[in-house]
Amino acid sequence: MIDYTYNFSGKTILVTGASSGIGKQISMDCAKAGATVIMLGRDEERLNQTLSQLEGDGHQVITGDLKDEKFIESACKALPPLDGVVQSAGMMKLVPLKFINAAFIDEMLAINLRAPILLVTTLQKLKKIKPASSVVLLSSINGAVIGSPANSVYGATKGGLQSFCKSASLELAKTSIRINCIAPAMVETEGTAVIGEHVSAEAIEADKKNYPLGRYGTPADIAGCCLFLLSGAGSWITGTTITIDGGFTAQ
Ligand SMILES: NC(=O)c1ccc[n+]([C@@H]2O[C@H](COP(=O)([O-])OP(=O)(O)OC[C@H]3O[C@@H](n4cnc5c(N)ncnc54)[C@H](OP(=O)(O)O)[C@@H]3O)[C@@H](O)[C@H]2O)c1
Repeated sequence: MIDYTYNFSGKTILVTGASSGIGKQISMDCAKAGATVIMLGRDEERLNQTLSQLEGDGHQVITGDLKDEKFIESACKALPPLDGVVQSAGMMKLVPLKFINAAFIDEMLAINLRAPILLVTTLQKLKKIKPASSVVLLSSINGAVIGSPANSVYGATKGGLQSFCKSASLELAKTSIRINCIAPAMVETEGTAVIGEHVSAEAIEADKKNYPLGRYGTPADIAGCCLFLLSGAGSWITGTTITIDGGFTAQ
């Protein structure tokens, strides 16, 4: 019998990037659905702010840098068995081709591609992902779906994540673990707020008109799909990417 409800009581879900934006909303919504949430990020103060907004008890905070493979190893060892993993931690930075250098490529790859791969594979080796649980990786429409100026390295990491997800799903399926990507278009978060420092309010309003649904996304738009994938309602979905973009790529 498939469970179509978002009743996560008794489930433990790890959310990286939980101190901000999409990861924060997913943490709050998972807690509201009854889950125990383990939130990971670098900034303890911001994580504790999220913690103070969660419904229910027993939630935890883990601080550390996912670019550091030793931190990933030790954090994974300390975790309890998980029913869900959400990898939202990531770096968004617009860098035109002429300013790209090795240090920037390494940093972007380390947090956006190496960290999710190491997190999933380390958890799997340690048998911390319970059979029949669900892993959700935050990708982007930038990469495998569209390109955009100054986003070539970011897009490469997010497209790479979708490729990793496909092949990993085939191995994880042996234990009925599902793994999927979510690929959002522009979502208004703390992470994208910096765009307002470089682009006029008029230009942003004009850009929103490029979206058939007439607006940018909200963290809640993304959390809704994430909870669906984490729940029994997504029980036959694996190895794929769900685009959430207000119709942007339908054009
Ligand atoms: N917002 C969008 O328009 C959009 C669109 C498509 C895809 N995405 C993807 O969705 C995800 C979330 O985006 P967002 O807008 O919510 O971003 P955000 O508001 O900037 O939040 C990013 C989160 O990642 C954490 N983080 C960053 N570097 C880290 C590191 N080295 N180690 C551990 N944690 C780290 C940050 O926490 P600390 O600073 O505390 O470490 C923060 O909680 C990202 O992967 C992004 O690429 C976003």
